[in-house]
Amino acid sequence: MKSIIIYNTKSGNTEQLANKMGEVLQKNGHEVDMYRDKDIKSQIQSNDSFFDPYDLLVFGSCTHAMAPARTLKSLLKVIKKQNIQNKKLICFGTSGGPDMWKKACSGIQKRFPQLEHIGDIGCVERENDGAIKKFEELVQNLQ
Ligand SMILES: Cc1cc2nc3c(=O)[nH]c(=O)nc-3n(C[C@H](O)[C@H](O)[C@H](O)COP(=O)(O)O)c2cc1C
Repeated sequence: MKSIIIYNTKSGNTEQLANKMGEVLQKNGHEVDMYRDKDIKSQIQSNDSFFDPYDLLVFGSCTHAMAPARTLKSLLKVIKKQNIQNKKLICFGTSGGPDMWKKACSGIQKRFPQLEHIGDIGCVERENDGAIKKFEELVQNLQ
């Protein structure tokens, strides 16, 4: 399975979770591409087939004002225009408050109702051990 992780981070918490998720995917035999949102926007904008090679999309963000960060939301708008179909989606987030990352996840998922939503992963800041365990289970069930 080929997967892509795209995330937003300001102070590195979500990036740390993204990196660990990438390792889990690789350990489970996935080919993984990983990008920070601001680094990939123009490439996606200029390529309508950008997501064609991927089976699993993994989108994540820190939580800002109970939602995904603005730069990720702006990128999701661009991605939504591509009308992606027949792919799986996992959302992830980190937050300051317990369970507030779920707001970031729902803010991502609601933009892609056509995708098969496999689950949400998240944690408070860098307390990501439990989140990684849950992600390992999700990924193993994908095999
Ligand atoms: C501007 C700003 C807004 C935030 N808003 C929220 C919020 O609404 N709810 C919450 O639980 N945490 C909030 N946080 C905390 C971050 O979501 C949390 O520290 C997160 O792990 C940061 O991830 P990062 O290191 O990847 O940037 C906010 C942080 C900042 C800087």
